[in-house]
Amino acid sequence: MVSEMEKEVNKRRTFAIISHPDAGKTTITEHLLLYSGAIREAGTVKAKGKKSNKFAKSDWMEIEKQRGISVTSSVMQVDYDGYQVNILDTPGHEDFSEDTYRTLMAVDAAVMVVDSGKGIEAQTKKLFEVVSQRGIPIFTFMNKLDRDGREPLDLVTELEEVLGIDAYPMNWPMGMGKTLLGLYDLYNQRVEIRQEGEEASFYDLDEEGQVKGDLPFKASSIYSQAIEDALLLHEAGNDFDRQAIAEGKLTPVFFGSALTGFGVQTFLDAFIELAHAPSPTLTKDGQAINPTDDRFTGFIFKIQANMNPAHRDRIAFVRIVSGRFEKGINVTLARTGKGIRMAHTTQFMADAREEVQDAYAGDIIGLYDTGNFQIGDTLYTGNQVVEFPDLPLFTPEVFMKVAPKNVLKQKSFHKGIEQLVQEGAIQLYRTYHTEEYILGAVGQLQFEVFQYRLLHEYNAEVEMTPMGSKIARWIDPDQLDPKMSSSRNLLAKDRFGQPVFLFENQFAENWFKDKHPDVVLKQLM
Ligand code: G4P
Repeated sequence: MVSEMEKEVNKRRTFAIISHPDAGKTTITEHLLLYSGAIREAGTVKAKGKKSNKFAKSDWMEIEKQRGISVTSSVMQVDYDGYQVNILDTPGHEDFSEDTYRTLMAVDAAVMVVDSGKGIEAQTKKLFEVVSQRGIPIFTFMNKLDRDGREPLDLVTELEEVLGIDAYPMNWPMGMGKTLLGLYDLYNQRVEIRQEGEEASFYDLDEEGQVKGDLPFKASSIYSQAIEDALLLHEAGNDFDRQAIAEGKLTPVFFGSALTGFGVQTFLDAFIELAHAPSPTLTKDGQAINPTDDRFTGFIFKIQANMNPAHRDRIAFVRIVSGRFEKGINVTLARTGKGIRMAHTTQFMADAREEVQDAYAGDIIGLYDTGNFQIGDTLYTGNQVVEFPDLPLFTPEVFMKVAPKNVLKQKSFHKGIEQLVQEGAIQLYRTYHTEEYILGAVGQLQFEVFQYRLLHEYNAEVEMTPMGSKIARWIDPDQLDPKMSSSRNLLAKDRFGQPVFLFENQFAENWFKDKHPDVVLKQLM
């Protein structure tokens, strides 16, 4: 018999959308909210004035403003067709940061939204690489089919070549832009016809792959060409393979238009069916923790400080790995061995941010934090110690020299830096010989947040000197000769004392490699 716990866990689908800014992440999210009944009306979410905000907000906050509903910037939980769908936001635009990457450590699947006019763009590629290392399913939505875009075959080929993943087209566009007739849906064995301003209509296929019956659109050359292309692709292309999809080796590709909602529901239905529920997670010592395990376990993947100085609270985001969370349970923080009562928590629903009563593996809960937690912390119930592996560090791309403005405030400056670094807000480096402070980050906004928090939380004003983007590469201390450093590759050390070169650009790195062919240069994830 299926237990209550199994039923709950099997209903969970926890994922993030990865895409380049403007590909349509917000619009697709909005449709999910619409189908789940969380909002009533879809429309373009205009994000005007975003650039002028000092602390860029997530697009979801824009939805919140537009729609007058409460959506947190980070996690949404909606009920879709009886499933509990948890969508984690991956901040893009100017608030792209390590948090964006870390969020990908807490999901069971990723949806990649591609603008079919542009193909695979830089940010999508970066995010894909992080997701792909986790071996979780990746679903592709080729968006903006209502516009004239690139050839579908061209898009699929590029996806396979640039990202190095096999693709399986689940449906195939019949026309594009003004000539868009519909989707030839191989997976569901039907054709989905687009009607301007109306809901899509569906027609079943016969054994030959033709729409049954005598319908006017069958006379269109767009229809016959699409069928020909799709069938040919099926013959010559990859086989549909559930296992390969589950392991992230094969990405199912869907075409559609988030703006008009065309093909979105078809996509979401297939996603729910093919993306798996939470699966076992390995601990540091290799023990597999089953999501339906009785004891509660989870890890913290993000800590969000409140930017409003009137509220000094922070929220630690916990991904539940196993068991059932009930309000007020006592857990142990693995890093310190200390007991903590989880009394003040919050869950993220599409229509309200409310106190959590209970939650299951796959869910994300927010824990009010007064400074106890660090990114990567494990929480567990019971006597047996559980500790999940540390979250990976990501290679920073932009750097900044930093020093206290007021030498008399050195102490608070050091304390502030140390805590913010531990929290994972920023990475700290020193120049190798002169020990000057260098901050490294994935995105520019992290520096601004750092400066703001240091001032408001630690009362320390800082002097920041931008160093621009650099390529950080670690080197084995045994291979290091300080003479290898030059103006184009600054030698620094990370906070564990490990030597790292900060190359000015790709040219400088290549030049170094040519000059020192035996030296191994490494990067973080
Ligand atoms: P993002 O979250 O990935 O950054 O993208 P978002 O959904 O905000 O979409 C970016 C822009 O692209 C939006 O236009 C949105 O309306 C449009 N868009 C999204 N999906 C589609 C689609 O399927 N077809 C078409 N034609 N457009 C789509 P915007 O911000 O209002 O900009 P604009 O109206 O000034 O161009």
